[in-house]
Amino acid sequence: MRALTYHGAHSVKVDTVPDPVIEENDDLILRVTATAICGSDLHLYRGKIPTVEHGDIFGHEFMGIVEETGSAVTAVQPGDRVVIPFVIACGSCFFCQMDLFAACETTNTGRGAILNKKAIPSGAALFGYSHMYGGVPGGQAEYVRVPKANTGPFKVPGTLSDEKVLFLSDILPTAWQAVTNAGIGQGSSLAIYGAGPVGLLSAACARMLGAEQIFMVDHHPYRLAYAQKTYGVIPINFDEDDDPADTIIRQTKGMRGVDGAVDAVGFEAKGSTTETVLATLKLEGSSGKALRQCIAAVRRGGTVSVPGVYSGFIHGFLFGDAFDKGLTFKMGQTHVQRFLPELLGHIETGRLSPEVIISHRMSLEQAAEGYRIFDKREEDCRKVILTPGSPHVAVPEIDDSAAVLAT
Ligand SMILES: NC(=O)c1ccc[n+]([C@@H]2O[C@H](COP(=O)([O-])OP(=O)(O)OC[C@H]3O[C@@H](n4cnc5c(N)ncnc54)[C@H](O)[C@@H]3O)[C@@H](O)[C@H]2O)c1
Ligand SMILES: [Zn+2]
Ligand SMILES: [Zn+2]
Repeated sequence: MRALTYHGAHSVKVDTVPDPVIEENDDLILRVTATAICGSDLHLYRGKIPTVEHGDIFGHEFMGIVEETGSAVTAVQPGDRVVIPFVIACGSCFFCQMDLFAACETTNTGRGAILNKKAIPSGAALFGYSHMYGGVPGGQAEYVRVPKANTGPFKVPGTLSDEKVLFLSDILPTAWQAVTNAGIGQGSSLAIYGAGPVGLLSAACARMLGAEQIFMVDHHPYRLAYAQKTYGVIPINFDEDDDPADTIIRQTKGMRGVDGAVDAVGFEAKGSTTETVLATLKLEGSSGKALRQCIAAVRRGGTVSVPGVYSGFIHGFLFGDAFDKGLTFKMGQTHVQRFLPELLGHIETGRLSPEVIISHRMSLEQAAEGYRIFDKREEDCRKVILTPGSPHVAVPEIDDSAAVLAT
């Protein structure tokens, strides 16, 4: 089969590799009909995540048709159309029973990412996300082996196109978890750092939940302009404004700050030259730029919610400020399985239209070009989806007026 494989930083290509086979009796083999490139894939692509090996298959946002099932699979059958959560969870361990699927302690044979780990088990395995997370081949491929097939695969109605439901695999539940973790509801104020796919869908979820004021910080004018037009955010470009948190606070009631902040940026946050250099030299685990801004922008008693991926230590972490303000921090990989029925309902009723953020539709064969464009933010790229099995895809442009603020 054909699959997108890694060959060193900034070097990926579509190769012919062996077809996956059933290895455990609760595996299934999926024929992938649509897959997407995630901001998390960019961390891998840029060579920033350890334990990625040459030839590894990327991809953790995918869906398709069940081709074959192992003898113990009862939840789905060949021919079913399913979306696959990027988190691989057993459904029965201590954490899965609490719906904390990303903490599943039985699926990851890798070491996990915690530095000061002690004896605790690793969190869940993830598709296509390095050997730390289990070395499980990903879904930017024609076929993929899906372990724990009684827990993950989520059946979707034939009436909804792939584009409408594909993001249930990751970025829609991630945005949802981020915004609900931030405590956002009717009349709330929110600051979202990062106007990538996760930031954009966070704005969509916050609007749906009735947020009154949504600030969005980034430095790509095209992303900010899109978010302003589509979700009515107040855009702030950090290339022009070197202290967005100050600008945000001055526009909130009583100059108290926002109720919640979402850090949809993560460890590669730009804006601090020192931290960028230290992180490149591996003297710093993550850039703390976006996180410090979130802590500064939030009101006393508010919440900093972090879907952006972080690793290791940050020296410039203002924990004293967080203490003085009495902040709550919520973060982590998304417990995808937990949110799917509810989010599918919102898509079916038209309250959420995640597909409007798609800017690039390409065939799997063009995946390397898709990575390059998304990484370089060329062609006003917001989100790339790839369709395996056809050298050329012609998908009609979606009319994004449907998602405009009034909804
Ligand atoms: N928690 C999870 O389960 C989960 C799931 C999906 C994605 N993620 C993570 O979420 C983050 C965002 O993903 P994405 O797909 O939107 O990626 P993306 O790379 O397209 O978007 C990140 C955006 O942040 C902006 N940015 C950089 N520095 C900034 C700063 N200092 N302040 C404000 N904005 C800044 C960039 O310009 C970019 O537009 C990534 O770290 C990704 O790994 C986490
Ligand atoms: Zn992802
Ligand atoms: Zn489990």
